[in-house]
Amino acid sequence: MPTRVSWLGHSALLFESEGKSVLIDPFLTGNPAAAATADAVKPDLILITHGHGDHVGDAVGIAKRTGATVAANYEISEWLQGPGRDLPAARIHGPQHGGSFTFEGIRVKLTLAFHGSVLPDGTYGGNPAGFVVTFPDGTKVYDAGDTALFGDMALIGEEGLDLAIVPIGDYYTMGPDDAIRAVKLLKPRHVLPIHYNTFPPIAQDAARWAERVAKETSAKPIVLKPGDWFEIPRG
Ligand code: NI
Ligand code: MN
Repeated sequence: MPTRVSWLGHSALLFESEGKSVLIDPFLTGNPAAAATADAVKPDLILITHGHGDHVGDAVGIAKRTGATVAANYEISEWLQGPGRDLPAARIHGPQHGGSFTFEGIRVKLTLAFHGSVLPDGTYGGNPAGFVVTFPDGTKVYDAGDTALFGDMALIGEEGLDLAIVPIGDYYTMGPDDAIRAVKLLKPRHVLPIHYNTFPPIAQDAARWAERVAKETSAKPIVLKPGDWFEIPRG
């Protein structure tokens, strides 16, 4: 079965590849668009792009319940092991931007993101990140996280992306116009918009954005409803 992804609402994404599952930014409790509850997901690996509550979400509770490994930048990885979270160091990865690690055949590299990253309790969360994830079958996915448009997306695109996942909500991240420019730099085969319609300030028309992607870029737009799955075709 090909690697597949489900959008769980906002920035929460669940991937399944060769029997392993990866959960990114599991903001489910308190997420009005959530398509799953925190006690219903069983990831092997949890990735956190940055420290904001709408991304850290239920990560600690899910990791405690399931024994999942958790990865984020170094500062967030330290916070995850600190008092009140107490996740064991053996199940934490804390690389920094440009660095990568491999978990059960899944390669994860941290990339740039232009945004903030303070943790919910006020702890400094380091620099926000995106992820390039290469699954065991070779499927390569870029999750931009929360970010503005930046020109180095062209360098990330040079890796050859089967799927790019980009925020289109505006206000906290790039909006629809800059997200189109991001797709032109990334040149992915497919692109999935996230971080929109969760809250009034980030209301967007994803169908209209997808029409523009199809007309103005070389990527195929994939618009999901929260809970939908997409099987990622390989190049
Ligand atoms: Ni954020
Ligand atoms: Mn956010």
